[in-house]
Amino acid sequence: MYLRDIMIEDLKKIEIEARAEITLLTEAAHFEEAKIKYLGRKGLLAAVSAQMSQVPSDKKREAGQELNRVKNAIESLFSDKQKTLGTFSAHAYKKIDASMPGTFYSPGTLHPLTQVIDEVIGIFRHLGFDLVEGPEAETEYYNFEALNIPLNHPARDSFDTFYLDSGRLLRSQTSPVQVRVMEKTKPPLKIIAPGKVYRPDATDATHSFMFHQIEGLMVDEGVSFAHLKGVLFAFAQEFFGKGTKLRFRPHFFPFTEPSAEIDIWSEARNSWLEVLGAGMVHPQVLKSVKIDSEKYTGFAFGMGVERLAMLKYGVEDIRHFFENDLRFLRQF
Ligand code: DAH
Repeated sequence: MYLRDIMIEDLKKIEIEARAEITLLTEAAHFEEAKIKYLGRKGLLAAVSAQMSQVPSDKKREAGQELNRVKNAIESLFSDKQKTLGTFSAHAYKKIDASMPGTFYSPGTLHPLTQVIDEVIGIFRHLGFDLVEGPEAETEYYNFEALNIPLNHPARDSFDTFYLDSGRLLRSQTSPVQVRVMEKTKPPLKIIAPGKVYRPDATDATHSFMFHQIEGLMVDEGVSFAHLKGVLFAFAQEFFGKGTKLRFRPHFFPFTEPSAEIDIWSEARNSWLEVLGAGMVHPQVLKSVKIDSEKYTGFAFGMGVERLAMLKYGVEDIRHFFENDLRFLRQF
């Protein structure tokens, strides 16, 4: 074979390869690389053209024509491709100025409710309480029955909720976690359980169909109402500041006996504000988890996280917490 024929063979191969490679190009970064490979100073076509001097003079013309044809074909493939790569073309790509300052992403903060939950958890951890969580999609048994709220009891209304097709419901309180824990762990035990709860309430400044609670439970031999008072008092001094005043008001909850609602004195509002429910764990609840109520006693409480946050930060409308308006959130 003559050198001319070898050259023409090579050119044909290069042309086929280039056509396939350029067609498959999708990224500007690879575009430039490919262009150098075929058309560059040390590229494939340059290598073929370097052999030209050795082609016998009577064949030079034909070989030269073929070389030009392939070169033009590859160039036009590249220029068509550059158009379809559009704004991401090699041209635009090269125009990026690496010395420009980067985009500044301002670091966010934890949501105020998350901050409050974390702070409350921290305080109770210091008092020796363990952190636990329970499911939001609960069964009727844990949300009602095991908490001594029978199907036809009027107290059921105040804990009404949303029912799911699966037969489960969205828990209307975090108290079911008490039952789940006591089924598995025998006293002595001290836990807190934060989480979301749901109630079909119409939304207004103080109501939301979803809000957060933190449940607390301590069960041991000889636990009394005095322990409950001591723990809640210690909590309030830490969370709201030294000298915070508490008021225990008699109340009714099916799962505690006696029960109380606890108010915090608000200087700003010059009034008492209810922040939590509490009481001594009802013997019926202990019975449902097979804990001997003659031997063990316990106290329990449940506090509203939004209430705590509103009081602490002087937020007047619960809806602020859920609207995600940055002007509000940036203040925390
Ligand atoms: N689960 C009650 C509620 O949602 C709050 C509560 C009251 C929790 C008394 C308790 C408790 O653990 O002992 O209104």
